[in-house]
This record gives sequence, structure tokens and C-alpha cells, in this order.
Amino acid sequence: MKTNQLRLGVNIDHVATLRQVRGTAYPDMVQAARVCEAAGAGGITVHLREDRRHIQDRDVVALRKAIKTRLNLEMANNPDILSVALKVKPDEVCLVPERRQELTTEGGLDAAGQERQLRPTIKKLQAAGIEVSLFIEAHPRQIEAAARLGAPVIELHTGTYCDLKGSAARKELARLCVGARLAHTLGLTVNAGHGINLENAAGILEIPHLHTLNIGHSIICNAVFTGLNRAVREMLDAMRAYRGGKP
Ligand code: PXP
Repeated sequence: MKTNQLRLGVNIDHVATLRQVRGTAYPDMVQAARVCEAAGAGGITVHLREDRRHIQDRDVVALRKAIKTRLNLEMANNPDILSVALKVKPDEVCLVPERRQELTTEGGLDAAGQERQLRPTIKKLQAAGIEVSLFIEAHPRQIEAAARLGAPVIELHTGTYCDLKGSAARKELARLCVGARLAHTLGLTVNAGHGINLENAAGILEIPHLHTLNIGHSIICNAVFTGLNRAVREMLDAMRAYRGGKP
């Protein structure tokens, strides 16, 4: 049995982004999830944002029915989204901060500053059998708050590290390593995510005690280039039926 295998959760939000920009019925989210699972993903992650800019409620319902691995729903601590989560019952919910104007999730959840607001949400999710994770910075204050709140899982925000270079990146990586060790000592499962790509993944792999990496944007971007050649060929094949107006 492989013991140290790191699980990959693929965030497929940006497959939905491609659909939403044209208002088409494709690309199909269930198909995307199945491709990821067939390739070895251990879970599928989607973020149901308050403004529904990519993932829609119906996507979460369809994915819940279709996926064979684990569905991880990222969401803000918002009563409307919470009611969707309680109905759909994903395997995991990752509570994230959310600001409508942001391009993507910026910064971690202030678990320490929002213990009072988070506690009832966490309780409701756990009562529904959903595993709760908190997306937080690798700061002892936040990690200790997650433990106090009874969230069994944290996802360390790797976005800052992924944006940095040189000594600043190494310093941030050291902070992530210290945070992961503390979380592990407190009995928390440690996931990580945001901004991870093929170039910075080697540094991320230095973080101890990792269970899952949640990666989205870079995989979907990479898929454009791993798939574009075939997509062009398939269209050219379809065009071979052209008869120039001849019967
Ligand atoms: N983890 C969390 C909590 C996120 O909010 C996101 C972005 O939706 C990701 C992971 C994936 O980040 P990226 O798309 O940069 O790989």
C-alpha cells in the first residue's frame, strides 16, 4: 500500500467559466469531472460563488450525482449557499472568504476573528455529515482557531508563496511548513491550494503532512495546450465532409 501518496483535488470552476462567457450548454461539467477522475484525481472541487460567475447550483447537483471520488464544495459563510450545501451534501465543504469584486479568492478566511459566525455553520455542516475544511493562512492564530472550532481539516493558502520568487518565496514556504507542522500536531488534516502550477509545485511538495492539493486554474490552462492539437484535428476531420456544393 502506498502511504505517502498526495491526493489531487481538481478545481473545475474554469471549465464552467468557458461555458458562462458564451452562455452555451457546453462544456459539460460532469464530463470534465469524469475526465479528471479517469486521469487519477482523488476529488473534484467547485466554488459556488455568491455571484454565480462560473459554477451554478445545477452543476453542484449534477456533480454530486455523477462523481465517484469526493466532491469538495468551496463556499463563503453565507446562508443561501449554506442551504444549497445542506441540500446537496457534498463530501466536503471548504469555507473560504469571498469578496464579490475579487478575481479569485484573495487571502485566507479569518477563522480567529470570525469564530462566533463560523461555529454554527460548521455545526450545521457536520450535523449533515459533511467534512468541514477551513481555507486559512499558515498563521498559528488561524490554525489554532480552526482546531478550537472543531474543523478537522484546514487548507493552507499557498497563493502568496506561488506569487513570490527567490528569498521571499523561501520565507513564505518556511511559514507554510511551520504551519503544517503545527496543524498536524493539533490533529488537523492539512490540505493546500491556490496558485499551484507545474513550476512552483516542487516547493509545495516540501510542505510536510499534506493530504490533498487543490489545483484548478493551471490545470485547465495546461489542458488548452495538451488538447488544442487534437481539437483542431477533430474539426478538420469534420470539415472533410465538405463537397463544395456538389451533391
Ligand atoms: N483552494 C481554494 C480554497 C480556492 O479558493 C481555489 C480557487 O478557487 C483553489 C484552491 C484553486 O486555486 P487555483 O485555481 O489557483 O489552482
